[in-house]
Amino acid sequence: MDHFLYRDGVLCAEDVAIDDIAAAVRTPFYLYSTATLERHFRLFDEALEGLPHLVCYAMKAASNQAILKTLAGLGAGMDVVSGGEYARAVAAGVPGNRIVFSGVGKTQAEIRAALVNGIRQFNVESEPEMRAISDVAVSLGVVAPITIRVNPDVDAKTHAKIATGKSENKFGIPIARARDVYAEAAALPGLKVVGIDVHIGSQLTDLAPFELAYTKVAELTEALRADGHEISRLDLGGGLGIPYARSNDAPPLPTDYGALIKRCVGHLGCEVEIEPGRLIAGNAGILVSRVIYLKSGEGRDFLILDAAMNDLIRPAMYEAYHDIVPVMEPPAGVELAAYDIVGPVCESGDTFAKGRMMPPLAEGDLMAFRSAGAYGAVMSSEYNTRPLIPEVLVHGDQYAVIRARPTFDEIINRDTIPAWL
Ligand code: LLP
Repeated sequence: MDHFLYRDGVLCAEDVAIDDIAAAVRTPFYLYSTATLERHFRLFDEALEGLPHLVCYAMKAASNQAILKTLAGLGAGMDVVSGGEYARAVAAGVPGNRIVFSGVGKTQAEIRAALVNGIRQFNVESEPEMRAISDVAVSLGVVAPITIRVNPDVDAKTHAKIATGKSENKFGIPIARARDVYAEAAALPGLKVVGIDVHIGSQLTDLAPFELAYTKVAELTEALRADGHEISRLDLGGGLGIPYARSNDAPPLPTDYGALIKRCVGHLGCEVEIEPGRLIAGNAGILVSRVIYLKSGEGRDFLILDAAMNDLIRPAMYEAYHDIVPVMEPPAGVELAAYDIVGPVCESGDTFAKGRMMPPLAEGDLMAFRSAGAYGAVMSSEYNTRPLIPEVLVHGDQYAVIRARPTFDEIINRDTIPAWL
């Protein structure tokens, strides 16, 4: 459930009519609902009730400071994957002891910055990275808390570009080698092993792959304890999927996921961390755009919007489906027609949907892409020198621009001309 509903014929975000925001901010823009963000965070937090736990929001999904502050205020930790995300989390007021650092290639500079400022744990992805973390920690005279990300060789049954738990993927160390790698970690002077980490992929719509992976982690916990390691923390990653098409799919709920976690690892007495991103932010955000032109092509009609692939890359990159609805509610029972919904960028890949059945539309109409809160704004670019679009946050009957649209001059003046020109 989200807080984007039609009221008196107009799509509203909580208590604000979206056409009012569009008139003030100008399209296209991202729009987030505070109530939905909060609700989704609480669903996870409550699903793990009874276990010592920390929900570390995977801020790669949507990392605006205002979103981070909203979640941090509820007690969220953060899962970061770069020095930039670490700095953003700190700037939003998240204490280091609530930040876990994931990512396949942490640089020495990133490791140092996190150790100096404070970190809950590094989720180590490889042996060379583990040695680098130890070296940096020793040079600073501190000890780095780590988990090691194991690759359980489980098929997450999701899009190939976002599956991470098969042995052919670049992530983690093969679970079969884990005992040797933990033995080396325990011998390194700058490290303190605190647990195990796993993350098998994103947009999982079935709990079975989680169950397989978490069962393997539980077995590994026992084996590592028998080897003398103190395994007190399990980071179980993110990945729970969301409904993109309202009409059909209904992925498992956070409560089902929480029950599964309790069943698989609850008996181990470990503190549990999870790293959900998409489920917290995805349906808490929409992309609002306007129809520029209706164009009749050869046997098909194009709806040309003012948003493009640079603003929302998911359809072009993952063949992702997003519900696209008019902001003005169409009358019930109105006849639908097929449109190819596209942006103005000079690539055929700049297509959001093909043959999508839509109610009658006209130039100037406002459209909303649902489920665009996760991996939307954060993956946008200024391709075609199209300015990064604003982000807006609604809170009850208030709204605020939380990232302004840059001017053309601001964009152009980021370039510097060398002296020889
Ligand atoms: N933890 C780690 C280590 C991850 O790599 C990810 C996502 C997450 C947590 C959060 O997963 P989530 O709960 O959001 O599924 N850009 C793609 C998704 C990439 C996901 C990358 N890693 C998309 O638009 O579908």
